[in-house]
Order: sequence, then structure tokens, then C-alpha cells
Amino acid sequence: MLKEDFYKKYADFEKNNKIIKDFHDLYYESSCIGGTWKNTNWLGVPIQKCPLDCWIYQELLFDIKPDIIIETGTKVGGSALFFASILDLIGQGEVITIDIDGKGKLPEHKRITYLWGSSVDETIIKFIEPRVKDKKVFVILDSDHSKEYVLKELEIYSKFISLNSYIVVEDTNTEGALEAVMEFIGKSKNFTIDRSCEKFYLSFAPMGFLKMVI
Ligand SMILES: C[S@@+](CC[C@H](N)C(=O)[O-])C[C@H]1O[C@@H](n2cnc3c(N)ncnc32)[C@H](O)[C@@H]1O
Repeated sequence: MLKEDFYKKYADFEKNNKIIKDFHDLYYESSCIGGTWKNTNWLGVPIQKCPLDCWIYQELLFDIKPDIIIETGTKVGGSALFFASILDLIGQGEVITIDIDGKGKLPEHKRITYLWGSSVDETIIKFIEPRVKDKKVFVILDSDHSKEYVLKELEIYSKFISLNSYIVVEDTNTEGALEAVMEFIGKSKNFTIDRSCEKFYLSFAPMGFLKMVI
């Protein structure tokens, strides 16, 4: 297709947004019948992510090359294993993943440390703090998606982020998480919403990729 034809075919912004929203809804809500994100695996382990977001993570992690990835919300470890696999390919870094609830057998990987407890619990934060000091840190918030909780996590974990790295709020396609992002961004001078991370149109974290710029 020629560039001109593309711009002609997709000139209607409203129509494009509707296509994206309708596909998003079909994709996201298919989980009700056990589809899409309820039926996605990384190396045999269930992962509750949009594969297009995973590709974005791969691009960001390759560029940033973090020393530490912190993930809140482990579930059965599929996303932690995904991040560890990308770090394997990059050749450096480790993953600390936190969940309030043990989920039985989790993938073993030399780069992954599992922590059990609430992600805002003081003991957990005290464990993390010395480990992230002077390190390049990348954070993914994927635990409790209520507004109050995400805000609490944003306040705590944003302090660990390094310049040009990210704190990603997953599930901003749901109300609570998105409201938390808007409130946080309204107050923060250090972070900006990087909408280029939505370049594949479908994302479970729209407006959720927050880049530290100052
Ligand atoms: C959406 S799932 C995580 C999915 C996983 N990151 C993935 O992509 O496969 C959310 C997880 O957050 C955990 N969770 C809920 N509240 C939490 C809290 N306060 N602290 C830590 N983890 C929490 C739940 O037990 C659940 O396993």
C-alpha cells in the first residue's frame, strides 16, 4: 500500500479509535471464556500479558539494560520468566517479583528472586531498598489494580527508577489503575507518559508506560 493510500484509508481518527477499542474489548473480554490472556504462555508458563506489550518490554529492556527489574504481582511466574528470558538474551540483570499470595510451583531461574507479601509492606521495601541503590531499575506494577493501591505503589516504587527508565502500570485499560496514573502524573515532575509504547495499537497498559525524564 502506498503512504498516500494509507493516510486516505485511515484518515478518520474516530473510526480508527473505534477499531482499536473494539479489538481491545474482544481481546480482553475473551478471557471470560478462557481465551487470549487466560490462555497465553511463555515457555509453558501462563502469563497474563498482551503479547504486543511483551514486545514493547523487550525493546525497552534492550535499550535500558536494567540491573534490576521489580515486578509486583507474580501470579504463577510467567511474566517474571519472560523478563528473565529477555535479560538472559541481553546478558545482564535480575528480576525481583513480589506477590501477596504463594501460587504453588513457580519457574526456577537464576535471575529471579521471589518475595512473598504485600508489595507496599515495609519488610518488602526494606529488603528491596539496599539492593536497588545506585542500580538501573525498571518497575512493572501488576498487583492490586485499585486506584488507592496503585497510587501507593507508584509513590513507593517511582523512587527507585533511574533516569530514562520506566515504571509501567499494567491494566490501565481498567478504571482504577488509569485514575491512579492520571493523579500521579498530575503531581510528578519526573515522569511523563510515553505513548510511543502504544505503537502497536493494542495494549493492556494504555497511558501506563511512565518514563523518568528528570
Ligand atoms: C494480574 S496478576 C499478575 C499477573 C502476572 N504479572 C502475569 O503477567 O502473569 C495479579 C497478582 O497480584 C497479586 N496481588 C494482589 N494484591 C497484591 C498485593 N497487595 N501485593 C502483592 N501482590 C498482590 C495477586 O495475588 C495476583 O497473583
